This record gives sequence, C-alpha cells and structure tokens, in this order.
Amino acid sequence: MKTKVRKAVFPAAGFGTRFLPATKAIPKEMLAVVDKPIIQYGVEEALAAGCEEIIIITARGKSAIEDHFDISYELEASLEKRGKTELLELSRKVSNMANLSYVRQKEAKGLGHAVLMAKDLVGDEPFAVILPDDVIDATTPCVKQMIDVFDEVQGSVLATMVVEGPGISAYGVLDGSPLSNNPRIIEARGMVEKPKFEDAPSKNAIIGRYILTPKIFELLENITPGAGGELQLTDGIKGLLKTERVYGYNFEGIRHDAGDKFGMLKATVDFALKRDDLGPPFREYLKSLSL
Ligand code: G1P
Repeated sequence: MKTKVRKAVFPAAGFGTRFLPATKAIPKEMLAVVDKPIIQYGVEEALAAGCEEIIIITARGKSAIEDHFDISYELEASLEKRGKTELLELSRKVSNMANLSYVRQKEAKGLGHAVLMAKDLVGDEPFAVILPDDVIDATTPCVKQMIDVFDEVQGSVLATMVVEGPGISAYGVLDGSPLSNNPRIIEARGMVEKPKFEDAPSKNAIIGRYILTPKIFELLENITPGAGGELQLTDGIKGLLKTERVYGYNFEGIRHDAGDKFGMLKATVDFALKRDDLGPPFREYLKSLSL
C-alpha cells in the first residue's frame, strides 16, 4: 500500500552559530550557495519528490525566510517597469513555488522539540523532515529515493552516509543490519546521538533527511533532554523502534553540510562548476590558480 508523503517539515529555528558573524542578522537558511538560499534547495527537493505542503519551523529573527517565499511587490514592479522579464520570472517562481506554513518555536530546545512544533500541521500521516543545512546533490532527489524506500519497507526511513574516523561524533549514528536484498537499506536496532568516536555503533551517520510516521509526535512529547542537553529527534526515533520498524538508507548522491564554513565552500564550488553559465569560466579560473 502506498501512503503519499505530502508534507515536508523544515526545522529552521536554530541560531546558526557556526556561521557567525554572517548569521548575526541573517538566518543561516538564507545563506546562498551560488545564488540560491540553502533552504530553497531543500524546498525544491521536497517538491520534486512529490510533497505538496512545506512547513517551516521558524523563530525570532527569521522573517527573511518568510519574505523570500512571499511576493516582492516593489521588486516585481521595478523589474516589470525596466523590462527585466527573466528576473521577474525568477522572482515570481519563488513566490509561487509552494504552499507554505510557518510555526514559531519560541525557545531553541533542540531538533526533537522543533519537529514536535509541526504536530498539528502534519496530523496523522507520514511526513518528511528536511534539515536545510544539508544541501544534497543527487540525480534522483534524496527525499524521492527515501519515499520509494518508505513505500517498500513501510517504516520510517532515515538518510545515512558512511563517515570514516572521529568525524562520526558530529552525527546521530545508526546501529543496524543491511537488508540482504538491498544493502543500502539498514534495519535499525538502535541509534546514538553524537557518540564519542570509540562508542559509535557503526560508520552510518544519520544526515538531515527523514521520512517519519506520525507516531513520532507522541514520543517527542515524552523525551527528556539528551546529548548537549537538547530534546533530540534521535531519541524520539529510538522510542519509535519499540513499536515500529525503522530503517537507515544509504542514499545515492552527495551531501554538503552548508551550515559549516568548509562544507559551504565545497558546495559553492561543486554547484558553480555544474552551472551552464558559470561552470566554464569558473573551471578556467580554478585551473589558473597556482595552488
Ligand atoms: C542533527 C541531528 C543528528 C544528525 C545531523 C545531520 O544534528 O541531531 O542526528 O546526524 O543533524 O546533519 P545537528 O547537526 O543539528 O547538531
């Protein structure tokens, strides 16, 4: 039985401290990779995967996100007057892109708490969670790949990737066994949020894409502060394991952590090189650098 995943939740209430001072007055979700805010990459991915409703969890100081997806009357009037048709289309495309709702998270209590804010808007149906920091370059959108896996396994699906070495401590880490008919799918036994390197149960790091069943909400209502003193989504999903099957999915594609300075630089280079307009001159420029 196919259950349509119609809604995608974007937690976007964090401070973005890894990107200070740029994020003092600008939401980190609005930092651009080339010319597009990182949250727009995620929204486009969700829409390409068939999601119809975008739910953004915001906070004080984040109104630029709402403005970005809204109509810009003054800008459009000015572009129209000056005959800048292509730019006008570009601006209108963003405001017509999606059906959006916003919920404010009043206090930054952690990712689990942020996702819980979407409970009433999601209701009783499976949904996607997309962490906007993670910009994914994939032939088939990562969320689409995950919805296909969800249809197959009929259980929550968490995107994973292999992380070698101590870097694994920056992630939620999955403990589980690959399915014999598809080793990309890992049936979860457990998971640990930001373990010490020596305590990590595997090399399978959970990254910022999830397809979750609505049961997660009652579990998130009952979690207590975990790693870093925060209400962790990972702890809610661990609770889910008691009554439902949960799977990791080693997706096909490249994930950039655009919430991190080095990750953002790499994403910028990769995406710029792929552009028809910028790619050729940018490649020439990079080649000319005597590194
Ligand atoms: C969050 C999750 C973590 C996951 C990571 C992926 O952590 O809590 O399980 O591995 O996103 O980016 P954060 O990066 O918000 O600290």
